[in-house]
Amino acid sequence: MAQDQVSGPDLAQGVALAELADGGKLVGHAGDEQVLLVRRGTEVFAVGADCTHYHGPLGDGLVIDDTVRCPWHHACFNLRTGEAVRAPALSPVACWPVEQHDGKIFVREKRERSAMLHHGKTQGKAPDKIVIVGGGAAGFAAAERLRRERYQGSIVMLSNDDAWPIDRPNLSKDYLAGNAPEEWVPLRPESFYSENGIELRLKVNVISIDVRSREVVLANGSQVPYDRLLLATGAEPVRLSIPGADQPYVRTLRTLTDCRAIIERAKTARRAVVLGASFIGLEVAAALRTRSIEVHVVAPDKTPMERILGPQMGDFVRSLHADHGVVFHLENTASAIDGKQVTLKDGGALEADLVVAGIGVRPRTELAERAGLTLDRGVVVNAYLETSVPAILAAGDIARWPDPHSGESIRVEHWVVAERQGQTAALNMLGHRETFTAVPFFWSQHYDIPINYVGHAEKWDELVIDGDIAGKDCLLRFKRNGRVLAVASIFRDVESLQAEVVMERDAAV
Ligand SMILES: Cc1cc2nc3c(=O)[nH]c(=O)nc-3n(C[C@H](O)[C@H](O)[C@H](O)COP(=O)(O)OP(=O)(O)OC[C@H]3O[C@@H](n4cnc5c(N)ncnc54)[C@H](O)[C@@H]3O)c2cc1C
Ligand code: FES
Repeated sequence: MAQDQVSGPDLAQGVALAELADGGKLVGHAGDEQVLLVRRGTEVFAVGADCTHYHGPLGDGLVIDDTVRCPWHHACFNLRTGEAVRAPALSPVACWPVEQHDGKIFVREKRERSAMLHHGKTQGKAPDKIVIVGGGAAGFAAAERLRRERYQGSIVMLSNDDAWPIDRPNLSKDYLAGNAPEEWVPLRPESFYSENGIELRLKVNVISIDVRSREVVLANGSQVPYDRLLLATGAEPVRLSIPGADQPYVRTLRTLTDCRAIIERAKTARRAVVLGASFIGLEVAAALRTRSIEVHVVAPDKTPMERILGPQMGDFVRSLHADHGVVFHLENTASAIDGKQVTLKDGGALEADLVVAGIGVRPRTELAERAGLTLDRGVVVNAYLETSVPAILAAGDIARWPDPHSGESIRVEHWVVAERQGQTAALNMLGHRETFTAVPFFWSQHYDIPINYVGHAEKWDELVIDGDIAGKDCLLRFKRNGRVLAVASIFRDVESLQAEVVMERDAAV
């Protein structure tokens, strides 16, 4: 950032301590970098003001003890070390030493980066060989965390994808809309893996696990031995089973290859039909509208996303998309695709040069099933993310874990949960005994409107709406028996963070 683009006071010149109340925050700059000052009693911390995930403004975040949480997607940074202690941020923010004299605070030269997370002693000897099946959110976060924990043994990461681990949420948002270059999509550059001694093997299909000899078996017949194994095979899109679904312009969206194919088609398409009105379907609709393609959404629901966000927010989402030109065909489904025509159940027909099916995903549990792991609509894990078979853990979209907040065993398909589970699994593979207690969180983006959701409410008996949904300033509380199970919000970021803290504290009691 150039010096003339920074804002706030020059912190190298000093600011009056009195300007910063206890617990307060102030954003200024040191040279050409934005710096966040936080006062905690007599201590003052100075860290980079931009979140390392998507540059969320940490100055608008929430300070809890000696951490600051990002308002956008709830990453958390240690104010003393800058370390990213909670996903979705994985890289630290910079830190500056702070001096106080004559009633003023001065930010000095930026510290050299030394911080590495280290949980201290583990129980027993660390394993020699860790194998991770899956190069997605959970698998990547686990590998990255293992190295941050100074794990010295071997890490082999096996992925049947042809791309390095990517920022999957971007595939239905800015990248698909044409607003983000492809360089932004990988989570890390290729060099990261060799520099960190992570043996990432792409286009490798793991077909079975020999739990006795502790080896995974690849499609080419070779074996990879493990001392600890993390299964992070994620989920795959449910495929359309109607006549004509196998045509090349009928797509699903999970991988970078899927996304590139949709983008290629979108370059010449004039009209797209999106099947499904949940998160992926509607984000795809928004991205295609940004490309000025006519978009029709066909879905069996009466109101989009009603099951997750309730009827009022669902109705808002529908009208938001309608205002952007999306045409809905609700309480309807596609029954066949013939040439460029999508036939609807109600007898109607829609012309389309591109069809994207976002009709749900199913967890990829075949490997776990063949290995004899306990399954229940996903791979069953305990609070340590251990499966029913020794030395095998599971994380991400495939894992069903005991959620201490809802008191239920749940499985969700959220990016932040997958990453945080990968991180907890990493610690537990090293012999720590960390329970997975994070409050589930997801976000979804529709045009310029972000929807944040903390907690988990499959069913609720009361929905309390604070603010104005149509005015894009609201917080919805999903309650059961008087207890808040989840909170959805639009532009109420601090309250969303506060709700997360309350849920964490409730579960800890
Ligand atoms: C387009 C899109 C947008 C999304 N947007 C959001 C969002 O905005 N917010 C949000 O919270 N969530 C979002 N999600 C969901 C989020 O991406 C997932 O919850 C998350 O990726 C799950 O991580 P995972 O590691 O469990 O699985 P994945 O990321 O799917 O990774 C699974 C990995 O396992 C590999 N694999 C599977 N089987 C095998 C095998 N047998 N052998 C070798 N490798 C194998 C796959 O190739 C892949 O690398 C989105 C998902 C998609 C598809
Ligand atoms: S921008 Fe901070 S968590 Fe995403």
